[in-house]
Amino acid sequence: MPEAPAMHIDKGLDNTIIGESRKSFIDGQAGILEYVGIDIDDLARTSTFEEVVFLLWNDRLPTAAELESFETELRAEYSLSSEMVGMLKSIPHDASPMHVLRSMVSSLALEDPECNDQSLESERRKAIRVLSKTPAIIAGFDRCRRGLELIDPDPSLNMATNFLWMLNGEMPGEASARAIDVCLILHADHGINASTFAAMVTIATQSDMYSALTSAVGTLRGPLHGGANERVMHMLQSIGGHDEVESFVMNSLENKTRIMGFGHRVYKALDPRAKYLKTFAEQIAEETGNTDLYVLSTRIQDIMDREVGAKGIYPNVDFYSATTYFSLGLAIDLFTPVFAMSRNAGWAAHSLEQHQDNRLIRPRCQYMGEHGVEYVHIDKR
Ligand code: ACO
Repeated sequence: MPEAPAMHIDKGLDNTIIGESRKSFIDGQAGILEYVGIDIDDLARTSTFEEVVFLLWNDRLPTAAELESFETELRAEYSLSSEMVGMLKSIPHDASPMHVLRSMVSSLALEDPECNDQSLESERRKAIRVLSKTPAIIAGFDRCRRGLELIDPDPSLNMATNFLWMLNGEMPGEASARAIDVCLILHADHGINASTFAAMVTIATQSDMYSALTSAVGTLRGPLHGGANERVMHMLQSIGGHDEVESFVMNSLENKTRIMGFGHRVYKALDPRAKYLKTFAEQIAEETGNTDLYVLSTRIQDIMDREVGAKGIYPNVDFYSATTYFSLGLAIDLFTPVFAMSRNAGWAAHSLEQHQDNRLIRPRCQYMGEHGVEYVHIDKR
């Protein structure tokens, strides 16, 4: 019998590198995030979400012609079939949008004749379908529950603009559309985070892209991961006024209650996404008359810096994205679905990478139970 390899416990996998990747680089100590080597700040300032998706899926920036052709490919998949629209309409209106999204992403496989084709090209086409249809699912469900007619997607628009168009039924201003575009860029990828890992574990069993992305949506919704942005907003609303901020933060820290939107497993410096989002949140808050909310957020940050900054607890991407989404008029329970809309890009990038150089992901646990326990018949227990 071969000798069992040496094992060690790494609860939470904090210190385990699970493989090689060319997608994103994170330096948690220095507060650096790069997609395929390009600084996130440069991408947020000058790129578009579509270009970032191409970058993550191809490990290089596209030429103008390649970008145009990729955008055409994405836009051709914007709309939902009448069966999917029917399904959306039949969902209870009080369902949570992340549950709706997870179910709908899973359902997209049902109408795809390629769903069992495991070729790389087919998995890539599935990723395009999910990425392109997610905005219609989120906007469509929101309109259904508000009792409004669904708006058809407009393939002449980029993904961010088209999302706001389908959500609100009116053409967004340039600033709002760009704000969503920037948020999509900033959330597109982040190494092997929990939801990306879930997608990779799924695709590594030689399952399929729909199953991988469904696993990822379910994983993202937890409050310790993508669900934190909604919790941030509820927290801000619960504080009351500026005078209450100090006591709120101090009481929370004393009671060991986590301040949502702060802290990160990897970043022990300011999350580089939060740096740019903070500037953005201020701008959008001013433009939409939500300055109060922004000031409240900065006050929390000041107190957190003073109290726990030395421990490496800083705002993460969720803290200022909450203010931005709220200022743009998004319902609070759509914040995490919008995160998913963007992270589809990273989930698919890592799943495709895994698919190309696959190994079943199968960790072990340390068994702590008893051995040789007698089976007692049910009548005798
Ligand atoms: N508020 C107050 N204290 C905090 C916070 C916070 N948000 N986050 C961590 N701490 C403290 C912990 O209480 C702990 O203190 P102690 O050493 O005195 O016991 C210390 O910092 C280390 O905390 P850990 O739980 O070990 O850190 P971990 O790496 O597991 O946590 C996490 C990361 C889960 C993100 C955590 O910071 C948290 O719960 N934050 C709030 C939720 C949140 O914003 N999540 C979004 C993350 S970003 C994303 O997923 C997109």
